[in-house]
Amino acid sequence: MELNIMTQTLRHLFVLLTALISSSVSNPLADNFLQCLSQDPNVTTTNFVFTQNDSEYSFILESTIANLKYSTPTTPKPLAVITPLTYSHVQSTILCSKHLKFQIRIRSGGHDSEGLSYTSSYQSPFVVLDLRELRSVIIESGQNTAWVETGATLGELYYWVSQESPNLGFAAGTCPTVGAGGHISGGGFGNMMRKYGLAADNVIDARIVDANGKILDRKSMGEDLFWAIRGGGGGSFGVVVAWKVNLVYVPDKVTVFSLTKTIEEGGSSLFNKWQYVSHNVSRDLFIRVEIQPALNESGNKTIQVMFSSMFLGNVDQLMETITDGFPELGLQEKDCSEMSWIETVLYFDDYTVGRSVDVLKERNTVDKSYGINKSDYVKEPIPEEKLEEIWKWCLEGDWPVLVMEPQGGKMHEIDDTIIAYPYRKGYLYNVQYREKWEDDSFESSEKRISWMRKMYENMAPYVAKNPRAAYVNFRDLDLGENDVDNTSYLNALKWGSKYFGDNFRRLAMVKGVYFGDNFRRLAMVKGVVDPDNFFFYEQSIPPLIMSEE
Ligand SMILES: Cc1cc2nc3c(=O)[nH]c(=O)nc-3n(C[C@H](O)[C@H](O)[C@H](O)COP(=O)(O)OP(=O)(O)OC[C@H]3O[C@@H](n4cnc5c(N)ncnc54)[C@H](O)[C@@H]3O)c2cc1C
Ligand SMILES: *[C@@H]1O[C@H](CO)[C@@H](O)[C@H](O)[C@H]1NC(C)=O
Ligand SMILES: *[C@@H]1O[C@H](CO)[C@@H](O)[C@H](O)[C@H]1NC(C)=O
Ligand SMILES: *[C@@H]1O[C@H](CO)[C@@H](O)[C@H](O)[C@H]1NC(C)=O
Ligand SMILES: *[C@@H]1O[C@H](CO)[C@@H](O)[C@H](O)[C@H]1NC(C)=O
Ligand SMILES: *[C@@H]1O[C@H](CO)[C@@H](O)[C@H](O)[C@H]1NC(C)=O
Ligand SMILES: *[C@@H]1O[C@H](CO)[C@@H](O)[C@H](O)[C@H]1NC(C)=O
Ligand SMILES: *[C@@H]1O[C@H](CO)[C@@H](O)[C@H](O)[C@H]1NC(C)=O
Repeated sequence: MELNIMTQTLRHLFVLLTALISSSVSNPLADNFLQCLSQDPNVTTTNFVFTQNDSEYSFILESTIANLKYSTPTTPKPLAVITPLTYSHVQSTILCSKHLKFQIRIRSGGHDSEGLSYTSSYQSPFVVLDLRELRSVIIESGQNTAWVETGATLGELYYWVSQESPNLGFAAGTCPTVGAGGHISGGGFGNMMRKYGLAADNVIDARIVDANGKILDRKSMGEDLFWAIRGGGGGSFGVVVAWKVNLVYVPDKVTVFSLTKTIEEGGSSLFNKWQYVSHNVSRDLFIRVEIQPALNESGNKTIQVMFSSMFLGNVDQLMETITDGFPELGLQEKDCSEMSWIETVLYFDDYTVGRSVDVLKERNTVDKSYGINKSDYVKEPIPEEKLEEIWKWCLEGDWPVLVMEPQGGKMHEIDDTIIAYPYRKGYLYNVQYREKWEDDSFESSEKRISWMRKMYENMAPYVAKNPRAAYVNFRDLDLGENDVDNTSYLNALKWGSKYFGDNFRRLAMVKGVYFGDNFRRLAMVKGVVDPDNFFFYEQSIPPLIMSEE
């Protein structure tokens, strides 16, 4: 009892102290923002706005930050975190930010690798519009479609889809805590892309709040903007509040396996074989490769190659498909597990089985660490005799992971201008370079970052070039940044052509610079829908106003 009173008193003291500390950092700009919002007749309360005065501010800001590199005491912080409860809250946040000349950062799942959804490297004041409260998933029974609000995580979307029917799924990424907002905006690939394409390929309608605070759907936004928001990367055109997506058929039972071979066990030549077959086997079969240093039985650091796979069928059908297409793998029935599609979501999260799928709807906490990621695409298999050198570079890193995912199938059938994601026919597989670490010492991060940059440089001869291709959902500011003093299209080509260019069949040339159609079209759409560049950030699409040429 006494202890209880004691704790209560302590708690009161704590609240008082927090209030005192917070008020000392109060910011008149945040007051202006609140005042502006409260003048909007549609906003009856501002309880969805958290300024530095509010004790919840830090918790809400930090809760979905996946990369701790952008969550340090010196990381620039927003004036306010706004968690809209209705679309009109989104509208008034845009209008007030515009009126007060604040920048806006849009956040759904917070998994951006460069922290672009919650911090800013510019001097101007900014607010974070966090969509976490807008996360309904409404399945349209019988039509195999769903409206998903962008604050939903992929895990929530998968869960509610599987509740509707065990034969329905959605084709998107493997990490359940990633947000539907950013992920689908950038394309979104995963285990079913060879059969059904990207998440963005399966979007059939959307609701977006534009720079004028207007809510638009596919019909009222028009096909150009609807094209741009599918694969053009999040945050350049407006706030997408909901997607309408096509759900896809999945069988009652699917089969997974993960098979590991060290270099000494022949991992290298298996990887080589994988380069030739993985994009060209049955589209029901998806075999990802994860390459990383590991300790072998004698305790020496070696390279291990993991083949991690999902097959849309039962184990007998899988064995047949492997025997036809990749017998060298030596897969045996005992390496495989059959399960429902929704169970595979948890399997690929951490390669364990047995957890209840209910955790998917609990928005389980985000894995946090310091990290840096880069990406590439491969058009010609890397010569087998070069692999040893690549493994050597991997061993020079601390504990890096190289992930490679085959395209082919549906990915090769969809034309490279249908949506903004350009890497289709001719691109065999993607490469994701990952390095993460737990301690925040300067040396530790410098070491990792310089390893990553060196690795990326070393790999140049073996990956797509002119321009070198990169995946926009693996944001990488090393590729270049918008110049805040000159937001011209030409200045952005350096990185823009890497994410959206290399449209090799339609190379065009302007002022001596090569670029592909998709980046140019994105910039033209931006020039129409947001000519004043309200939605501006380090790698936002620059407005291309036609007179500029
Ligand atoms: C653990 C992990 C696993 C991953 N696995 C995969 C994978 O399997 N496949 C894959 O393709 N990618 C994968 N990714 C990359 C992931 O798809 C991108 O980081 C994606 O952009 C994250 O979306 P988000 O909503 O969580 O991120 P956020 O950080 O919230 O947003 C990312 C970007 O989109 C903008 N944005 C966010 N919401 C909206 C919105 N509603 N309207 C407009 N713009 C918006 C943000 O401003 C920011 O620029 C993974 C990333 C991580 C960290
Ligand atoms: C923050 O607190 C200070 C001191 O109590 C107050 O003057 C200010 O208006 C508050 N600002 C906001 C944005 O709530
Ligand atoms: C209030 O909301 C309605 C419905 O969304 C909208 O039509 C109207 O423009 C909004 N008013 C303001 C001032 O934002
Ligand atoms: C890099 O990507 C992997 C998987 O896609 C993810 O687990 C990790 O958190 C990412 N790191 C960063 C810094 O985004
Ligand atoms: C895929 O395999 C078929 C035959 O099985 C072959 O003709 C074709 O060239 C292969 N395609 C690629 C891209 O390797
Ligand atoms: C372990 O790795 C070392 C160094 O790569 C190698 O020489 C040795 O043969 C490996 N041992 C086993 C048992 O694989
Ligand atoms: C492997 O490890 C042992 C002891 O752990 C060591 O003596 C040996 O030199 C190592 N071999 C290689 C090839 O690194
Ligand atoms: C902006 O940069 C482009 C390309 O580098 C250049 O041509 C243009 O003159 C610059 N504009 C201004 C206003 O500096």
